[in-house]
Amino acid sequence: MTDFSFQNVTVIGAGAMGAGIAQVAATAGSHVRLVDIDKDRAEQGRDRIDLSLARLTKKGKLEEGRQDDILSRIRASDDLDNSVSNADVVVEAVLEDMDLKRDMFSTISFRAPSHALLGTNTSSLSIGKIAAGNAAAGRIIGLHFFNPVPIMKLLEIVRGPECSDESVAAAQAFSDYLGKESILVRDVPGFATSRLGVLLGLEGIRMVEDGVASPEDIDKAMELGYRHPMGPLKLTDLVGLDVRLAIAEHLRRELDAPQFEPPQLMRDMVAQGKLGRKSGQGFYSYDAS
Ligand SMILES: NC(=O)c1ccc[n+]([C@@H]2O[C@H](COP(=O)([O-])OP(=O)(O)OC[C@H]3O[C@@H](n4cnc5c(N)ncnc54)[C@H](O)[C@@H]3O)[C@@H](O)[C@H]2O)c1
Repeated sequence: MTDFSFQNVTVIGAGAMGAGIAQVAATAGSHVRLVDIDKDRAEQGRDRIDLSLARLTKKGKLEEGRQDDILSRIRASDDLDNSVSNADVVVEAVLEDMDLKRDMFSTISFRAPSHALLGTNTSSLSIGKIAAGNAAAGRIIGLHFFNPVPIMKLLEIVRGPECSDESVAAAQAFSDYLGKESILVRDVPGFATSRLGVLLGLEGIRMVEDGVASPEDIDKAMELGYRHPMGPLKLTDLVGLDVRLAIAEHLRRELDAPQFEPPQLMRDMVAQGKLGRKSGQGFYSYDAS
């Protein structure tokens, strides 16, 4: 892993995140294998990339004529073993499930070249636990991208206890190569982003609960007073109250920290199906369209 070539990148999981990661890697010039459990899903991921590239071209964010070239570097596949066999970097973006990810890395570490950097896009699971007992644990690292990947600048690099210095350096070089800005974080629950971001959301909900101000005014406080691009309640609606409730419960348990105790209002809203933007109702109402 000394010269950090990123010529061949394999992304496993062609969902929202995997397709985005494949898109930015191919845009940077890599040959990308995009793998999913069946060929159709992998192809659908590739089709979404095509649409996303077309949108970027239309908005003037991608030069005319680059779309086909970028897409031609992405191959959809359902063959995990062969897709990782010449990878310089593998990024796993399958479902958020510890057993699935551990299984995945057993196969990947066996099949991928011995120089390959092995990244997981987990948003909450312990990198140490994913890598535990794996012969390639020194090369397994958290590469936490944000949604939508082509737009969001941040890459949160999460260093597990067995991860080598060289893997950290390779991950930082990969981030630069993709045009991202990276931060380096120790493998703790919530990493840096969720731990701080979720807490702000929970406190905003407690303030609604206590009648401190309306959701609109709490969001305005942070948007205009602190220059946050989006207030904590709007952001909670966007992410989904159910998703944030699960993260809060996880952090409450793992960090044993009372500030992550989910407010009763949040639990009630989730029980009533008020999940935010995706259900049409959260702290704000959304059009079905
Ligand atoms: N969605 C987000 O905002 C976000 C942000 C950061 C990180 N993440 C993390 O990224 C990962 C993926 O999230 P997502 O939102 O893209 O999920 P998603 O459900 O959109 O996509 C997951 C994909 O993995 C595929 N998959 C499942 N099992 C597989 C297997 N055995 N082999 C190959 N492919 C398999 C599924 O078919 C699906 O296409 C999760 O770990 C999630 O926590 C998500």
